[in-house]
Amino acid sequence: MVNVAGWKYYEFDKVQSTNDVIKQYCTEEGRRIAILAHEQTNGRGRCGRVWDSLSGNLFCSLALEFDLTKIGQLVAITALSLSEVLEKELRAKIFLKWPNDVLIDDAKISGILLEKGPLDYVIIGLGVNVKKCPENPDILYPTTSLAKQGCHIRAPELLDKYVERFSHNLAKLNEEGFADLRVEWLKRAKNLGKLITIRQNKKMEEGIFIGIDENACLLLETSAGLSKKLAGDVFLIER
Ligand code: BTN
Repeated sequence: MVNVAGWKYYEFDKVQSTNDVIKQYCTEEGRRIAILAHEQTNGRGRCGRVWDSLSGNLFCSLALEFDLTKIGQLVAITALSLSEVLEKELRAKIFLKWPNDVLIDDAKISGILLEKGPLDYVIIGLGVNVKKCPENPDILYPTTSLAKQGCHIRAPELLDKYVERFSHNLAKLNEEGFADLRVEWLKRAKNLGKLITIRQNKKMEEGIFIGIDENACLLLETSAGLSKKLAGDVFLIER
């Protein structure tokens, strides 16, 4: 049960995708909405991928009005907020893989999908592997779950903690700007200083991941100079 000031909360037994259901509540200016579903039958991931929605995991979406020119900063704080909650719950180091993957060691614990909603709303879809993680052989990356890591929190309680931390970071972003949040993000950055490939659509570019800028764009030092990336998938080059 989300019990955080300023958020209107709805809970469902079963939906196709929380990111779609939440849109019907984005009707009035100035609202913040959170929804949770106990089951999700058609979860969507980034780049048109399917999100394997296994029972007992967290499937939720948040909707809020946000200036789209600063969307990179919002992406960064959605992942940062989850890493901070998980650090407390697990007492372990959590890594952030640009743009918004949250990792324990090298394994993905969650997925975040930001989409444009109605009016000036932005929709943040968050899936966390609470009880189970997909283990089918064709999955692109290693995965883990909170249960595997020894943490037995329930999905609604995790959502409460997430919304609280996210609200805190959002207020900080609105009042003080991105500078300190950027520092917090970089402390947890995976592959910082390393040689990576970034794939955008079908284009691959290689370079050293030297940080993120004031808009949370990835900074890539390439043989042709400094390149800024707004979106893409990052892969480590191991040599
Ligand atoms: C990713 O590809 O890493 C993003 C996955 C996002 C999954 C969440 S689960 C709740 C919300 N509803 C969806 O259909 N997708 C997001």
